[in-house]
Amino acid sequence: MKILVTGGAGFIASHVAQAYLDAGHQVVVLDNLSSGTRDNLPPGARFIQADVRDPGLAELLAAERFAVINHHAAQISVPASVQDPRFDAEVNLLGLINLLQAGTAHGLERFIFISSGGAIYGDMDDPPASEDLAPRPASPYAVAKLAGEYYLDYFAQNFGLPTVTLRYANVYGPRQVPHGEAGVVAIFMDCLMTGRPPVIYRHAEMPRGMARDYVYVADCVAANLAALEAGQGAYNIGTGVETTTLELWQTVQRAAGRELDHSFGPVRAGDIKRSALDASRAARELGWRPAHDLAAGLAETWAWRLARG
Ligand SMILES: NC(=O)c1ccc[n+]([C@@H]2O[C@H](COP(=O)([O-])OP(=O)(O)OC[C@H]3O[C@@H](n4cnc5c(N)ncnc54)[C@H](O)[C@@H]3O)[C@@H](O)[C@H]2O)c1
Repeated sequence: MKILVTGGAGFIASHVAQAYLDAGHQVVVLDNLSSGTRDNLPPGARFIQADVRDPGLAELLAAERFAVINHHAAQISVPASVQDPRFDAEVNLLGLINLLQAGTAHGLERFIFISSGGAIYGDMDDPPASEDLAPRPASPYAVAKLAGEYYLDYFAQNFGLPTVTLRYANVYGPRQVPHGEAGVVAIFMDCLMTGRPPVIYRHAEMPRGMARDYVYVADCVAANLAALEAGQGAYNIGTGVETTTLELWQTVQRAAGRELDHSFGPVRAGDIKRSALDASRAARELGWRPAHDLAAGLAETWAWRLARG
């Protein structure tokens, strides 16, 4: 199949593009390199440096006639979305609509969209949450991701376009860069490389730090492979396991075989306390299950981090 992977110069989608190539597909990566880098581009993929908001994409899609668009490109920072909700919506919503409109006009057969289970559900009383939990998006980033899902439903219903949304938990793995909350594994590994003790942010009622669901990037890749052939609607992609920040820090140290002090700090306002995703629907309909537990994923990530120096 001929597949357009947006954001393929970034952390997660560069792995997805590589896997699509390995599976024998023809892959074109579109990325504006705002946070992604050429180094991440998989050899064998054609690269187009462009912005998902560019109205000229209609011409590109008319000429290329992709069978599938896999849309990972995004403004990914929650704090940045709070500071500038308009920019977040321009990239994450108008960029998406641009691709959906151009795609449906030019023979697209399937659209895979990446949303955030960590963000759209908001704080959870009783994790893990299934897709039936009513979303309570608590940031402009989460609102735009959820609205994007509704746009996919609209295009599915009105244009007969098969659409799949993958709602990732907190993704970690090789090529993740150490900034932002999503990069906490990368931050911890950076601390171990440099000997700089990390600060663990915590709520008064959560002395071991916030609880999150950490899913390994290779498992997200497997979900993107499955979504080429199956599925309709939204799927949680997570492990269902809650890990506190302190537990994560301890597991990273074990994976690395190194030890370092840490300190605690007060959490940022609005940060979610508990979140984990029940991925039973993905298991049933996509045949997807996470193949890596935290220790295995962290061991592979540390090996990459060491090799990078
Ligand atoms: N990392 C996580 O834990 C996580 C969790 C849930 C969802 N997601 C989603 O996964 C996707 C990939 O995230 P990532 O962590 O790999 O981030 P990333 O920043 O490494 O990748 C995003 C890519 O999109 C590109 N990009 C940004 N704006 C663009 C634009 N206007 N036009 C074209 N390209 C643009 C960037 O240059 C970058 O290469 C995003 O949609 C993100 O919201 C990530």
